[in-house]
Amino acid sequence: MARKSKAPARKKAGVKTKTAKANKKPASGPKKKGAKKKVAKAKSKPVRKRPAKASAKAATRVRKAKASGKKIIVVTGATGAQGGGLVRAILGDAKSKFGVRAVTRNPKSDKAVAIAKLGAEVVQADLDDVDSLKKAFNGAYGAYCVTNFWEHFSPDKELAQAAKMAEAAKECGLKHVIWSTLEDSRNWIPLSDNRMPTLMGKYKVPHFDAKGEANGQFTDRKVPTTFLLTSYYWDNLIHFGMGPQVGADGALTITMAMGDKKLPGIASDDIGRCAYGIFRSGAKYIGRTVGVAGEYLSGAEMAAALSKALGRVVRYDAVDPDTYRSFGFAGADDLGNMFQFNRDFSEEFCRARGLHEARSLNKDLQNFDDWLSRHKDEIPMPQT
Ligand SMILES: NC(=O)c1ccc[n+]([C@@H]2O[C@H](COP(=O)([O-])OP(=O)(O)OC[C@H]3O[C@@H](n4cnc5c(N)ncnc54)[C@H](OP(=O)(O)O)[C@@H]3O)[C@@H](O)[C@H]2O)c1
Repeated sequence: MARKSKAPARKKAGVKTKTAKANKKPASGPKKKGAKKKVAKAKSKPVRKRPAKASAKAATRVRKAKASGKKIIVVTGATGAQGGGLVRAILGDAKSKFGVRAVTRNPKSDKAVAIAKLGAEVVQADLDDVDSLKKAFNGAYGAYCVTNFWEHFSPDKELAQAAKMAEAAKECGLKHVIWSTLEDSRNWIPLSDNRMPTLMGKYKVPHFDAKGEANGQFTDRKVPTTFLLTSYYWDNLIHFGMGPQVGADGALTITMAMGDKKLPGIASDDIGRCAYGIFRSGAKYIGRTVGVAGEYLSGAEMAAALSKALGRVVRYDAVDPDTYRSFGFAGADDLGNMFQFNRDFSEEFCRARGLHEARSLNKDLQNFDDWLSRHKDEIPMPQT
Protein backbone atom coordinates (compact mmCIF):
# COMPACT_ATOMS: atom_id res chain seq x y z
CA MET A 1 0.00 0.00 0.00
CA ALA A 2 2.81 2.39 0.71
CA ARG A 3 4.26 4.06 -2.32
CA LYS A 4 6.75 1.89 -4.04
CA SER A 5 10.30 3.01 -3.43
CA LYS A 6 11.82 4.61 -6.45
CA ALA A 7 15.33 3.64 -7.51
CA PRO A 8 17.49 6.42 -6.23
CA ALA A 9 19.04 8.22 -9.16
CA ARG A 10 22.16 9.30 -7.32
CA LYS A 11 24.06 11.41 -9.75
CA LYS A 12 26.82 12.96 -7.76
CA ALA A 13 28.10 16.28 -8.94
CA GLY A 14 31.25 15.26 -10.71
CA VAL A 15 33.47 17.81 -9.08
CA LYS A 16 34.05 18.92 -5.54
CA THR A 17 33.59 22.62 -5.13
CA LYS A 18 34.59 25.15 -2.59
CA THR A 19 32.54 25.41 0.53
CA ALA A 20 30.12 28.29 0.59
CA LYS A 21 31.90 29.63 3.66
CA ALA A 22 34.98 29.99 1.57
CA ASN A 23 32.81 31.69 -1.02
CA LYS A 24 31.41 34.25 1.36
CA LYS A 25 33.19 37.53 1.38
CA PRO A 26 34.58 38.04 4.86
CA ALA A 27 33.42 41.30 6.44
CA SER A 28 37.00 42.02 7.35
CA GLY A 29 40.22 40.09 7.14
CA PRO A 30 43.18 39.69 4.90
CA LYS A 31 42.77 41.55 1.65
CA LYS A 32 46.04 40.56 0.06
CA LYS A 33 46.30 37.21 -1.66
CA GLY A 34 49.75 36.67 -0.17
CA ALA A 35 48.46 37.27 3.33
CA LYS A 36 45.75 34.66 2.82
CA LYS A 37 48.31 32.12 1.68
CA LYS A 38 50.50 32.79 4.71
CA VAL A 39 47.64 32.10 7.11
CA ALA A 40 46.88 28.84 5.37
CA LYS A 41 50.50 27.83 5.49
CA ALA A 42 51.02 28.81 9.12
CA LYS A 43 48.13 26.60 10.19
CA SER A 44 49.37 23.94 7.76
CA LYS A 45 45.78 23.22 6.78
CA PRO A 46 45.27 21.47 3.47
CA VAL A 47 44.01 24.01 0.95
CA ARG A 48 41.45 22.44 -1.31
CA LYS A 49 41.88 23.28 -4.96
CA ARG A 50 38.67 24.41 -6.50
CA PRO A 51 37.89 23.36 -10.02
CA ALA A 52 37.51 26.57 -11.99
CA LYS A 53 34.33 25.43 -13.78
CA ALA A 54 32.42 24.64 -10.61
CA SER A 55 33.45 27.78 -8.79
CA ALA A 56 32.49 29.85 -11.82
CA LYS A 57 29.07 28.21 -11.81
CA ALA A 58 28.61 28.95 -8.11
CA ALA A 59 29.70 32.54 -8.60
CA THR A 60 27.27 32.95 -11.50
CA ARG A 61 24.52 31.64 -9.26
CA VAL A 62 25.29 34.24 -6.58
CA ARG A 63 25.49 37.00 -9.20
CA LYS A 64 22.15 36.00 -10.71
CA ALA A 65 20.52 35.87 -7.28
CA LYS A 66 21.78 39.36 -6.50
CA ALA A 67 20.77 40.69 -9.91
CA SER A 68 17.21 39.41 -9.55
CA GLY A 69 16.85 41.52 -6.41
CA LYS A 70 14.94 38.61 -4.89
CA LYS A 71 15.81 36.64 -1.82
CA ILE A 72 16.49 33.12 -3.01
CA ILE A 73 14.82 30.21 -1.25
CA VAL A 74 16.43 26.87 -2.02
CA VAL A 75 13.68 24.26 -2.10
CA THR A 76 14.63 20.64 -1.57
CA GLY A 77 11.98 18.14 -2.58
CA ALA A 78 10.96 20.74 -5.17
CA THR A 79 9.64 18.09 -7.56
CA GLY A 80 7.62 16.52 -4.74
CA ALA A 81 4.48 17.30 -2.76
CA GLN A 82 5.74 19.59 0.00
CA GLY A 83 8.53 21.36 -1.86
CA GLY A 84 6.40 21.58 -5.00
CA GLY A 85 3.68 23.32 -3.02
CA LEU A 86 6.20 25.90 -1.83
CA VAL A 87 7.60 26.41 -5.34
CA ARG A 88 4.11 27.02 -6.72
CA ALA A 89 3.21 29.32 -3.82
CA ILE A 90 6.27 31.54 -4.31
CA LEU A 91 6.21 31.61 -8.11
CA GLY A 92 2.44 32.07 -8.17
CA ASP A 93 2.81 35.34 -6.27
CA ALA A 94 3.85 37.94 -8.82
CA LYS A 95 4.75 40.40 -6.06
CA SER A 96 6.90 37.96 -4.12
CA LYS A 97 10.19 39.23 -2.76
CA PHE A 98 11.45 35.64 -3.01
CA GLY A 99 12.83 33.64 -5.91
CA VAL A 100 13.12 29.85 -6.10
CA ARG A 101 16.15 27.64 -6.57
CA ALA A 102 14.74 24.15 -6.94
CA VAL A 103 16.85 21.16 -5.99
CA THR A 104 16.50 17.89 -7.82
CA ARG A 105 18.73 14.94 -8.65
CA ASN A 106 17.49 15.05 -12.21
CA PRO A 107 16.93 18.48 -13.78
CA LYS A 108 15.73 16.75 -16.95
CA SER A 109 12.81 14.96 -15.34
CA ASP A 110 9.32 16.06 -16.43
CA LYS A 111 8.60 17.48 -12.99
CA ALA A 112 11.86 19.46 -12.91
CA VAL A 113 11.23 20.83 -16.39
CA ALA A 114 7.70 21.83 -15.36
CA ILE A 115 8.92 23.88 -12.39
CA ALA A 116 11.64 25.47 -14.51
CA LYS A 117 8.84 26.61 -16.83
CA LEU A 118 7.13 28.25 -13.85
CA GLY A 119 10.27 30.35 -13.35
CA ALA A 120 12.37 28.34 -10.89
CA GLU A 121 16.12 28.08 -11.23
CA VAL A 122 16.58 24.31 -11.24
CA VAL A 123 19.86 22.93 -9.88
CA GLN A 124 21.18 19.44 -9.50
CA ALA A 125 22.04 18.31 -5.99
CA ASP A 126 21.69 15.21 -3.87
CA LEU A 127 20.80 15.12 -0.20
CA ASP A 128 23.46 12.42 0.20
CA ASP A 129 26.17 14.71 -1.17
CA VAL A 130 26.98 17.62 1.11
CA ASP A 131 29.20 19.38 -1.43
CA SER A 132 26.36 19.46 -3.95
CA LEU A 133 24.14 20.96 -1.24
CA LYS A 134 26.69 23.64 -0.40
CA LYS A 135 26.78 24.61 -4.05
CA ALA A 136 23.00 24.71 -4.20
CA PHE A 137 22.66 26.76 -0.99
CA ASN A 138 25.38 29.21 -1.95
CA GLY A 139 24.22 32.84 -2.03
CA ALA A 140 20.66 31.98 -1.00
CA TYR A 141 18.59 33.63 1.72
CA GLY A 142 16.81 30.54 2.96
CA ALA A 143 16.04 26.89 2.39
CA TYR A 144 13.14 24.48 2.73
CA CYS A 145 14.58 21.16 3.88
CA VAL A 146 12.66 17.90 3.52
CA THR A 147 13.70 14.25 3.32
CA ASN A 148 11.79 11.42 1.68
CA PHE A 149 11.65 8.44 4.05
CA TRP A 150 9.42 6.43 1.74
CA GLU A 151 12.06 6.23 -0.96
CA HIS A 152 14.49 4.18 1.15
CA PHE A 153 12.72 3.36 4.45
CA SER A 154 15.88 4.27 6.38
CA PRO A 155 15.59 6.64 9.35
CA ASP A 156 19.38 6.65 9.68
CA LYS A 157 19.64 7.91 6.12
CA GLU A 158 17.09 10.66 6.84
CA LEU A 159 19.13 11.72 9.83
CA ALA A 160 22.32 11.81 7.75
CA GLN A 161 20.61 13.83 5.00
CA ALA A 162 19.25 16.33 7.54
CA ALA A 163 22.76 16.70 8.97
CA LYS A 164 24.11 17.44 5.51
CA MET A 165 21.44 20.08 4.85
CA ALA A 166 22.09 21.68 8.25
CA GLU A 167 25.83 21.70 7.56
CA ALA A 168 25.34 23.31 4.15
CA ALA A 169 22.90 25.88 5.60
CA LYS A 170 25.38 26.81 8.31
CA GLU A 171 28.33 27.10 5.97
CA CYS A 172 26.38 29.20 3.51
CA GLY A 173 25.14 31.49 6.28
CA LEU A 174 21.46 31.07 5.40
CA LYS A 175 19.16 33.47 7.21
CA HIS A 176 16.10 31.24 7.51
CA VAL A 177 15.67 27.50 7.15
CA ILE A 178 12.46 25.51 7.45
CA TRP A 179 13.01 21.91 8.49
CA SER A 180 10.03 19.69 7.67
CA THR A 181 9.83 17.59 10.79
CA LEU A 182 7.59 15.36 12.88
CA GLU A 183 7.49 14.34 16.52
CA ASP A 184 10.09 11.94 17.89
CA SER A 185 7.53 9.49 19.28
CA ARG A 186 10.14 8.08 21.69
CA ASN A 187 9.64 11.19 23.82
CA TRP A 188 6.09 9.90 24.45
CA ILE A 189 6.66 6.17 24.15
CA PRO A 190 10.19 5.22 25.20
CA LEU A 191 11.79 2.15 23.68
CA SER A 192 11.21 0.31 26.97
CA ASP A 193 7.42 0.80 26.60
CA ASN A 194 5.98 -2.40 25.14
CA ARG A 195 2.62 -1.06 24.06
CA MET A 196 4.05 -1.02 20.54
CA PRO A 197 7.01 -2.89 19.06
CA THR A 198 10.40 -1.27 18.75
CA LEU A 199 11.38 -1.17 15.07
CA MET A 200 14.83 -1.31 13.50
CA GLY A 201 16.35 -1.66 16.95
CA LYS A 202 15.92 1.93 18.12
CA TYR A 203 12.72 3.48 16.79
CA LYS A 204 9.02 3.39 17.56
CA VAL A 205 7.76 5.31 14.53
CA PRO A 206 10.86 5.36 12.33
CA HIS A 207 9.64 7.96 9.80
CA PHE A 208 8.66 10.30 12.64
CA ASP A 209 11.50 9.65 15.07
CA ALA A 210 14.42 10.37 12.77
CA LYS A 211 12.86 13.67 11.67
CA GLY A 212 12.32 14.70 15.30
CA GLU A 213 15.82 13.60 16.27
CA ALA A 214 17.20 15.54 13.30
CA ASN A 215 15.92 18.82 14.81
CA GLY A 216 19.13 18.72 16.83
CA GLN A 217 21.21 18.85 13.66
CA PHE A 218 19.89 22.36 13.07
CA THR A 219 19.82 23.58 16.67
CA ASP A 220 23.30 22.24 17.51
CA ARG A 221 24.75 24.20 14.59
CA LYS A 222 22.68 27.26 15.51
CA VAL A 223 21.07 27.37 12.08
CA PRO A 224 18.19 29.91 12.16
CA THR A 225 15.42 27.35 11.76
CA THR A 226 11.66 27.00 11.92
CA PHE A 227 10.59 23.45 12.74
CA LEU A 228 7.50 22.71 10.66
CA LEU A 229 5.33 19.88 12.00
CA THR A 230 3.44 18.54 9.02
CA SER A 231 0.24 16.48 9.03
CA TYR A 232 -1.21 13.43 7.29
CA TYR A 233 -1.78 14.34 3.63
CA TRP A 234 -5.29 13.76 2.30
CA ASP A 235 -3.42 13.16 -0.97
CA ASN A 236 -2.53 9.75 0.54
CA LEU A 237 -5.99 8.72 -0.67
CA ILE A 238 -4.70 9.21 -4.22
CA HIS A 239 -0.99 8.41 -4.16
CA PHE A 240 -0.27 6.32 -1.10
CA GLY A 241 -2.69 3.42 -1.46
CA MET A 242 -4.89 4.72 1.36
CA GLY A 243 -8.00 5.31 -0.74
CA PRO A 244 -11.17 3.21 -0.46
CA GLN A 245 -10.72 -0.54 -0.91
CA VAL A 246 -13.33 -3.24 -1.15
CA GLY A 247 -13.76 -4.75 2.34
CA ALA A 248 -14.52 -8.38 3.20
CA ASP A 249 -18.26 -7.65 3.04
CA GLY A 250 -17.95 -6.01 -0.40
CA ALA A 251 -18.39 -2.46 0.94
CA LEU A 252 -16.01 0.39 0.15
CA THR A 253 -13.77 0.92 3.15
CA ILE A 254 -10.98 3.16 4.37
CA THR A 255 -8.77 1.53 6.95
CA MET A 256 -6.87 3.25 9.75
CA ALA A 257 -5.90 2.31 13.28
CA MET A 258 -7.17 5.50 14.87
CA GLY A 259 -10.19 4.11 16.75
CA ASP A 260 -12.60 7.04 17.13
CA LYS A 261 -9.84 9.61 17.63
CA LYS A 262 -9.18 12.56 15.37
CA LEU A 263 -6.23 12.79 13.01
CA PRO A 264 -4.95 16.19 11.82
CA GLY A 265 -4.93 16.18 8.02
CA ILE A 266 -3.92 18.63 5.31
CA ALA A 267 -3.82 19.08 1.55
CA SER A 268 -0.13 18.51 0.76
CA ASP A 269 -0.05 21.71 -1.32
CA ASP A 270 -1.06 23.67 1.76
CA ILE A 271 2.11 22.63 3.57
CA GLY A 272 4.13 24.53 0.98
CA ARG A 273 1.76 27.50 1.15
CA CYS A 274 2.14 27.62 4.94
CA ALA A 275 5.92 27.39 4.55
CA TYR A 276 5.75 30.38 2.22
CA GLY A 277 3.82 32.24 4.93
CA ILE A 278 6.59 31.40 7.40
CA PHE A 279 9.31 32.73 5.08
CA ARG A 280 7.29 35.89 4.49
CA SER A 281 6.80 36.42 8.22
CA GLY A 282 10.55 35.95 8.71
CA ALA A 283 12.34 36.47 11.99
CA LYS A 284 9.38 35.93 14.30
CA TYR A 285 9.25 32.27 13.29
CA ILE A 286 12.97 31.53 13.68
CA GLY A 287 13.59 29.10 16.52
CA ARG A 288 9.90 28.19 16.70
CA THR A 289 8.09 24.92 16.14
CA VAL A 290 4.95 25.45 14.06
CA GLY A 291 2.41 22.75 13.31
CA VAL A 292 0.01 22.97 10.37
CA ALA A 293 -3.21 21.12 9.55
CA GLY A 294 -6.34 21.87 7.55
CA GLU A 295 -8.82 19.98 9.74
CA TYR A 296 -8.93 17.33 12.47
CA LEU A 297 -11.12 14.38 11.51
CA SER A 298 -11.94 10.94 12.84
CA GLY A 299 -11.96 7.99 10.44
CA ALA A 300 -15.76 8.00 10.56
CA GLU A 301 -15.86 11.69 9.66
CA MET A 302 -13.47 11.12 6.75
CA ALA A 303 -15.59 8.23 5.50
CA ALA A 304 -18.76 10.35 5.74
CA ALA A 305 -17.15 13.20 3.79
CA LEU A 306 -15.86 10.74 1.16
CA SER A 307 -19.32 9.16 0.82
CA LYS A 308 -20.89 12.57 0.25
CA ALA A 309 -18.25 13.70 -2.25
CA LEU A 310 -18.07 10.42 -4.20
CA GLY A 311 -21.76 9.61 -4.11
CA ARG A 312 -20.92 6.09 -2.93
CA VAL A 313 -21.03 4.76 0.60
CA VAL A 314 -17.57 4.54 2.16
CA ARG A 315 -17.18 2.94 5.58
CA TYR A 316 -14.41 3.37 8.12
CA ASP A 317 -12.75 0.17 9.26
CA ALA A 318 -11.10 0.97 12.61
CA VAL A 319 -8.65 -1.90 12.84
CA ASP A 320 -6.44 -2.22 15.89
CA PRO A 321 -2.76 -1.30 15.49
CA ASP A 322 -1.63 -4.96 15.68
CA THR A 323 -3.85 -5.79 12.71
CA TYR A 324 -2.50 -2.80 10.77
CA ARG A 325 1.10 -3.81 11.50
CA SER A 326 0.36 -7.30 10.19
CA PHE A 327 -0.83 -6.10 6.76
CA GLY A 328 2.54 -7.05 5.30
CA PHE A 329 3.21 -4.21 2.86
CA ALA A 330 6.52 -2.34 3.20
CA GLY A 331 6.21 0.11 6.07
CA ALA A 332 3.01 -1.42 7.54
CA ASP A 333 4.66 -1.79 10.97
CA ASP A 334 5.84 1.82 10.90
CA LEU A 335 2.37 3.08 9.89
CA GLY A 336 0.68 0.81 12.47
CA ASN A 337 2.86 2.38 15.16
CA MET A 338 2.20 5.83 13.71
CA PHE A 339 -1.56 5.41 13.91
CA GLN A 340 -1.28 4.05 17.44
CA PHE A 341 0.87 7.02 18.49
CA ASN A 342 -1.50 9.49 16.80
CA ARG A 343 -4.51 7.76 18.37
CA ASP A 344 -3.14 7.58 21.91
CA PHE A 345 -1.92 11.19 21.88
CA SER A 346 -4.58 12.54 19.52
CA GLU A 347 -5.44 15.64 21.55
CA GLU A 348 -1.82 16.65 21.98
CA PHE A 349 -1.05 15.84 18.36
CA CYS A 350 -3.92 18.04 17.16
CA ARG A 351 -3.05 20.83 19.59
CA ALA A 352 0.49 20.96 18.15
CA ARG A 353 -1.06 21.75 14.75
CA GLY A 354 -3.10 24.89 15.19
CA LEU A 355 -5.72 25.44 12.50
CA HIS A 356 -5.85 29.13 13.29
CA GLU A 357 -2.09 29.58 12.88
CA ALA A 358 -2.09 27.54 9.66
CA ARG A 359 -4.82 29.80 8.27
CA SER A 360 -2.92 32.92 9.33
CA LEU A 361 0.05 31.65 7.28
CA ASN A 362 -2.07 30.55 4.33
CA LYS A 363 -5.42 32.24 3.84
CA ASP A 364 -6.44 29.64 1.24
CA LEU A 365 -6.04 26.72 3.67
CA GLN A 366 -8.38 23.88 2.64
CA ASN A 367 -10.47 21.67 4.86
CA PHE A 368 -11.25 18.08 3.81
CA ASP A 369 -14.44 19.03 1.93
CA ASP A 370 -12.54 21.71 0.00
CA TRP A 371 -9.81 19.23 -0.86
CA LEU A 372 -12.37 16.61 -1.94
CA SER A 373 -14.21 19.05 -4.16
CA ARG A 374 -10.95 19.58 -6.09
CA HIS A 375 -9.49 16.07 -6.03
CA LYS A 376 -12.26 13.50 -5.61
CA ASP A 377 -12.00 12.39 -9.24
CA GLU A 378 -8.30 11.55 -8.78
CA ILE A 379 -8.98 9.01 -6.01
CA PRO A 380 -8.60 5.52 -7.49
CA MET A 381 -11.91 3.72 -7.04
CA PRO A 382 -12.15 -0.08 -7.05
CA GLN A 383 -15.13 -1.81 -8.66
CA THR A 384 -17.57 -3.18 -6.08
N1 LIG B 1 2.36 11.25 3.17
C1 LIG B 1 2.08 11.90 4.28
O1 LIG B 1 0.95 11.92 4.78
C2 LIG B 1 3.16 12.67 4.99
C3 LIG B 1 2.79 13.50 6.04
C4 LIG B 1 3.78 14.19 6.71
C5 LIG B 1 5.11 14.06 6.32
N2 LIG B 1 5.43 13.24 5.29
C6 LIG B 1 6.85 13.11 4.91
O2 LIG B 1 7.05 13.74 3.68
C7 LIG B 1 8.30 13.28 3.17
C8 LIG B 1 8.26 13.25 1.66
O3 LIG B 1 7.92 14.50 1.16
P1 LIG B 1 7.02 14.64 -0.13
O4 LIG B 1 5.74 13.87 0.09
O5 LIG B 1 6.94 16.08 -0.45
O6 LIG B 1 7.92 13.85 -1.19
P2 LIG B 1 7.54 13.25 -2.64
O7 LIG B 1 6.35 13.95 -3.21
O8 LIG B 1 7.51 11.77 -2.55
O9 LIG B 1 8.83 13.66 -3.47
C9 LIG B 1 10.11 13.30 -3.02
C10 LIG B 1 11.03 14.48 -3.23
O10 LIG B 1 12.26 14.26 -2.56
C11 LIG B 1 13.33 14.50 -3.45
N3 LIG B 1 14.45 13.65 -3.07
C12 LIG B 1 14.38 12.39 -2.55
N4 LIG B 1 15.62 11.93 -2.31
C13 LIG B 1 16.48 12.90 -2.67
C14 LIG B 1 17.89 13.02 -2.67
N5 LIG B 1 18.68 12.01 -2.25
N6 LIG B 1 18.44 14.15 -3.11
C15 LIG B 1 17.66 15.16 -3.57
N7 LIG B 1 16.32 15.13 -3.59
C16 LIG B 1 15.74 14.00 -3.15
C17 LIG B 1 12.78 14.18 -4.82
O11 LIG B 1 13.51 14.89 -5.78
P3 LIG B 1 14.03 14.26 -7.20
O12 LIG B 1 13.42 12.89 -7.34
O13 LIG B 1 13.54 15.25 -8.23
O14 LIG B 1 15.51 14.25 -7.06
C18 LIG B 1 11.35 14.71 -4.69
O15 LIG B 1 11.30 16.07 -4.95
C19 LIG B 1 8.53 11.90 3.78
O16 LIG B 1 9.74 11.89 4.51
C20 LIG B 1 7.31 11.68 4.68
O17 LIG B 1 7.63 11.04 5.87
C21 LIG B 1 4.49 12.57 4.59
